[in-house]
Amino acid sequence: MLKVRLGIIGCGSITKHRHAPEAKSNENVDLVAVCDNNLINAEKVAKMFDVPKVYADYETMLNEEKPDAVVVAAPNCIHADATIKALKAGAHVLCEKPMATTIDECKKMVDTAKETGKFLMIAHNQRFNKAHIKAKQIIQSGELGRVLSFKTTFGHGGPESWSSDKPDTWFFHKEKATFGSMGDLGVHKIDLMRFLLGEEFVEAAAFVTTLAKRYPNGELIDVDDNAVCILKTQSGAIGTVTASWTYPGSEDNSTIIYCEKGSITLYGDPRFSMIIRYANGQKAYFELDTMQTNEKQTKSGVMDEFINSILTNTPPKISGEEGLKTMKVVFACFESAKTGKVVKIDY
Ligand SMILES: NC(=O)c1ccc[n+]([C@@H]2O[C@H](COP(=O)([O-])OP(=O)(O)OC[C@H]3O[C@@H](n4cnc5c(N)ncnc54)[C@H](O)[C@@H]3O)[C@@H](O)[C@H]2O)c1
Repeated sequence: MLKVRLGIIGCGSITKHRHAPEAKSNENVDLVAVCDNNLINAEKVAKMFDVPKVYADYETMLNEEKPDAVVVAAPNCIHADATIKALKAGAHVLCEKPMATTIDECKKMVDTAKETGKFLMIAHNQRFNKAHIKAKQIIQSGELGRVLSFKTTFGHGGPESWSSDKPDTWFFHKEKATFGSMGDLGVHKIDLMRFLLGEEFVEAAAFVTTLAKRYPNGELIDVDDNAVCILKTQSGAIGTVTASWTYPGSEDNSTIIYCEKGSITLYGDPRFSMIIRYANGQKAYFELDTMQTNEKQTKSGVMDEFINSILTNTPPKISGEEGLKTMKVVFACFESAKTGKVVKIDY
C-alpha cells in the first residue's frame, strides 16, 4: 500500500509530543516535511523524528512537497488560513483545536473541504479516551436512564510551561490565540459532552474572565484564564463546563454525568478511569486507561484515525462540521459572558 505523504505545520509542543511521534509510529505514514516560521523549532523536530525537509513557510511547503495530508498545529490564528490553503493544494487536513477564531472561518474551512473533496478532521482527542468511549456506550444503551445533568472540568496551571514559545507565549495574546482557557481547554470539554450525550446544546450562560495570569510586565493577560459555563441540551439536560489556567498543583480533567439510575465519573480517580454509582448504592469500577497530561503523554489515537480515514476513503467522524458545532457553543459562551444574558444557539 502506498504511504500517506504527510507534512506538519507548526513544530511546537503538540507536534513534538503527539503528532510527530504518532505519525512516525504509523506504518502507513511518510512524514516528508515539517514547517515552522521559527526554523530552529522546525529543525529540532526534523532532527528528532528524522524528517527530510524543513520549511519556514507553509505555502512553500504545500507547493513544493504537494503532501497528501497536512497537520495544522500552529497558533490558533493560523488554523483557518493554513487549513484552507492545504485543502486547496489537494491535501487532507487534521487541524488542531480550537478549530479557528471566528464562526465565519470555521464555515469557510468546512466549505473548502466540501469544494475540494478533501477530508477535514479536528483534533478533539478526548473522544478517543477509553473511558469516554465506554461511557458513551452506557449512555446510549439507556441502562442508566436519561441524562439529567453533568459537570465537566479541564483545569491546570496554564500553558506557559508547556508552550515552546517562551518566555512570552502566544497563548496569552489575543491577536494570536483569540481565546484563553476557554478555547484551549473548555473547547475540549464542550466537544466531549456533545459526543457523550449525542445531542446538541441549545442554550448557554457563562462567566469568562481573567483573574490571575499576567504578562512579564505585570499586566493581566488579554485572554481569559477562567471560565464557568452552564449549558442546556435539546432534551433539557443541564450542566456545567469549567475551564481554568489557574489550578495550582495538579490537573483536573474530570467529568460526572448524572442519570436517572446512577452517575458516571470519568477520570476523577487516579486509578479508576470510570466509576459508576448506581441509585441502589452499588458501584462498578473500571481501570481502562489514564488521561494524558501535559507532563505524561500517552498515544492519543488521533493520527491513526486520520490516516485510516484517508486510506479507507471514509469521512472522519470528527469532521469540520462537528468542529463547527462545538465552536458555536464556545462563541455562545463568550457572547453570554459579554452580554450577561442567556444565549440561544442556532444550528
Ligand atoms: N489537542 C490538544 O490537546 C492540544 C494540546 C496542546 C496544543 N494544542 C493546539 O495545538 C496548536 C499548537 O499548540 P502548541 O502547544 O504546539 O504551541 P507551541 O507554542 O508549543 O508551538 C507553536 C508553534 O507554532 C509555530 N508557529 C507560529 N506561527 C507559525 C506559522 N505561521 N507557521 C508555522 N508555524 C508557526 C511557533 O513557532 C511554535 O513552534 C494550538 O492551536 C493549540 O491549541 C492542542
